[in-house]
Amino acid sequence: MKLRTIDNLDVRGKYVLLRDDFNVQIVDGAITDSFRIDQSMPTISALRAGGARIAICAHLGRPKGTRNMDFTLAPVAEYMKIPLIPDCLDKDFMANMKDGDVVLLENVRFYPGEEKNDPEFSAQLANGFDIFVNDAFAVSHRAHASTVGVAEILPSYAGKLLASEIEHLSAVMENPRRPLLSIVAGSKVSTKIGVLRALAKLSDTLIIGGALGTTFNYATGGRVGNSLYEADQKDTALGILEYAKENNCNVLLPLDKGVAKEFTPTATRTNKDFSEIQDDDIIIDAGIATTERDVAAIKSAATVIWNGTVGMAEWQPTWSYGSFAIANAIAEQTRAGKLESIVGGGDTVAALTACGVKDDITYVSTGGGAFLEFIEGRTLPGIAILESK
Ligand code: 3PG
Repeated sequence: MKLRTIDNLDVRGKYVLLRDDFNVQIVDGAITDSFRIDQSMPTISALRAGGARIAICAHLGRPKGTRNMDFTLAPVAEYMKIPLIPDCLDKDFMANMKDGDVVLLENVRFYPGEEKNDPEFSAQLANGFDIFVNDAFAVSHRAHASTVGVAEILPSYAGKLLASEIEHLSAVMENPRRPLLSIVAGSKVSTKIGVLRALAKLSDTLIIGGALGTTFNYATGGRVGNSLYEADQKDTALGILEYAKENNCNVLLPLDKGVAKEFTPTATRTNKDFSEIQDDDIIIDAGIATTERDVAAIKSAATVIWNGTVGMAEWQPTWSYGSFAIANAIAEQTRAGKLESIVGGGDTVAALTACGVKDDITYVSTGGGAFLEFIEGRTLPGIAILESK
C-alpha cells in the first residue's frame, strides 16, 4: 500500500486541517493515558516546522451529534497547551493565524453530519483549508466526514503516525518472522470473529483467552460456572477451531482459571481447573497452568501479535496476574532481541503501561477497532482514500 505522505510537501503559509485521534480516557478532567496524543506529535512538529497553519480536528467519545460538554476536548487542549476553538465549523480564528500556529477544534462529533459523512457538513468543515492531513489511524475504519468526506474535497495526505502504523502492521502481516504466535483475548467472540479467522490463517499458534476463551471452553464442553461468555457463539467458536485446523494453526485454549464467588476487584481468588468450576464460580483471570503455558509459547515464538487482556487487568494485583505475565514475557523476549512484538488495543496497551514495559515492545499501535480491522485485512476507508494512484 503506497500512501501520499507529507514528506517533501510544501506547507508554508498553508491552512492545514489535521485529523488526529485524541479519543483518550479522561477522568475528572484529567487525561489518564496520553499515548495517542504523544504519538501524534511528530506530524504536528513537522507541519509546524514547515510553516503550516494547523487546525486539529478530533473527536472524543460518542456524544451522538449533540453538543454534550461531557465530551469536550478542553482537557486535551490544556494538555497540549494550544487554544481550543469552541466550534469546529468556526473559521474566524484563521485570519489571525501565523505560520507554525496550531489550534484544536472542539469535538467534531458534536455535529450529526460527522458520523453520517454528510457532504454538506464535510464542505463546511473543509472550507478555508488548503490541505487535509489524516494522522488518525485509530479512527480510519470509520467513513466519517472528518476522515473521508474532507479527503474527497481537499488535497489529502497521510501523516507520519498513520504512515508508520501501516508500515509496521503491513510488514508483520505480509512477512512475519516465524514461528508467529497470536494472542487474542477480550470479552466478545462476536466482535472478533474476523480477526480470529485472519490470525488462525496467518499464525503458527493462536492463544485464545479472556472471556473470549471462556466461550471457546464452553463450546468445547468445559465448565464455565456463572462467568461472562456467549452461549449463542458456540457454533462460531467451533467453526473457528475447524478453520484453524485446516490452516495448520495450533490453537491453545485456557486450561485453568482464576475464579471468585463475586465479580469485584477485592474478591478472593482461587485457581481452578475447568473440571472443578462450580455453578456459582465467576472466571476473572487466566489460571496458573494456562499462564505458564502462555509464557512458554511466547518464549518459543519469533513474532507475537497481542490484542486483548486475559482477565480484569485493571483490578491489580489479584486479577492482573495472567495479563501482566504475558506483558512481561513479551517485553523480556523483545528486549533480549529474540522476539518481534506487535501490540494493539486500549486495554492491552494500558496493561503494558501498568507493567512499565510499553517502550520494550517492537511496535505499539494506537488503534483499537482500526488495529483489528487492519489485521483482518479489511479496507479502512480513511486510509484507502489516501492511497497514491
Ligand atoms: C477508538 O477509540 O477506537 C477510535 O477513536 C474510534 O472510536 P469509535 O469506536 O467511537 O468510533
